[in-house]
Amino acid sequence: MTKKSYNIAVIPGDGTGPEVVTEGLKVLRAAAPKFKFTMNFETFDFGGDRYLRTGEVLPDSAIDELRKFDAILLGAIGHPDVKPGILEKGILLKLRFDLDQYINLRPVKLYPGVPTPLKDKGPEHIDYVVVRENTGGLYTGIGGFSMKGTPDEIAIQSMVYNRKQVERCLRYAFNYTRKRNRKNILALCGKTNVLTYVYDLWERAFHEIGARDYPDIKREYYHVDATCMWMVKNPEWFDVIVTGNMFGDIITDLGAITQGGMGIAAGGNINPEGVSMFEPIGGSAPKYTGKNVINPLAAIACGGMMLEHLGEETAARAIEKSIINVTANKLKGMGAGQMGYSTSEVGDLVTEGL
Ligand code: IPM
Ligand code: MN
Repeated sequence: MTKKSYNIAVIPGDGTGPEVVTEGLKVLRAAAPKFKFTMNFETFDFGGDRYLRTGEVLPDSAIDELRKFDAILLGAIGHPDVKPGILEKGILLKLRFDLDQYINLRPVKLYPGVPTPLKDKGPEHIDYVVVRENTGGLYTGIGGFSMKGTPDEIAIQSMVYNRKQVERCLRYAFNYTRKRNRKNILALCGKTNVLTYVYDLWERAFHEIGARDYPDIKREYYHVDATCMWMVKNPEWFDVIVTGNMFGDIITDLGAITQGGMGIAAGGNINPEGVSMFEPIGGSAPKYTGKNVINPLAAIACGGMMLEHLGEETAARAIEKSIINVTANKLKGMGAGQMGYSTSEVGDLVTEGL
């Protein structure tokens, strides 16, 4: 059998992105020979520094070039000297949209040894996955100003979904719930009492598809506000949650903080038929840049998610096991500067534990 080989595009990005990506790569480089595959990494310098230097957010050739890779590993996008929106829209969202990464997969899993702000909750209570639609809704940016700068100014930004977009996201979520095979419950998070068009479409599609093609999966519905409440009070109710782009953005920050914060929360921008991109949920954390204090576990976990996506499930499980060993037995805290180890030492610990 020929050894499997993967070509990975690496976008370290801004702030602490490069530091955490270095640790993610360290673990992947160690895992490859152990689990009998090879990985070739090619680095791209997209981010705030390049933008400030060249005035270019993303070169025109970038998308086509990235399409040739098996997956993308991204550190963080966001620079204190660049106005909010430019890099987010010009790099992160453009990559998600142009590569049609229509799923944002965000596991909310509390590892042993990781402190959670939720009272009386432990790893046995916090273990679910949010499937966030990733290319539509409010994020299409459709809208505009009228009479800008006058007292009568109007600003509109529309939540836009078509049936196909909703349906492919729901199908992914149903399939994911089935494959996960835990509680076999898929919860739709919406707002059918106010967003009576968009979430009506979601809810109808949810029940039609579910009843017809996924009778083995139990369907539940929660309004988004109530979802937030139960994520805090009874996270153990959840197995998989599916929702639109904006709600998914919001509830996954809540989820991330319940699993120990931005240092540990990993996510994947998935195109099931194309190139997927894995990124820690946390931002570029500029004030910790270059200090070797940021927690790299989210980026390391992203590497694990990437391997799982590529079909290297044994290696992915080994990385997760090693992360758990580190959180359970080594780290003093999860926050930057609170781990009792430096960024690179945490990468070493996970590598040694493989
Ligand atoms: C995220 C981030 C992005 C989003 C921003 C940086 C555009 O918050 O990945 O959750 O809103 O999707
Ligand atoms: Mn977010």
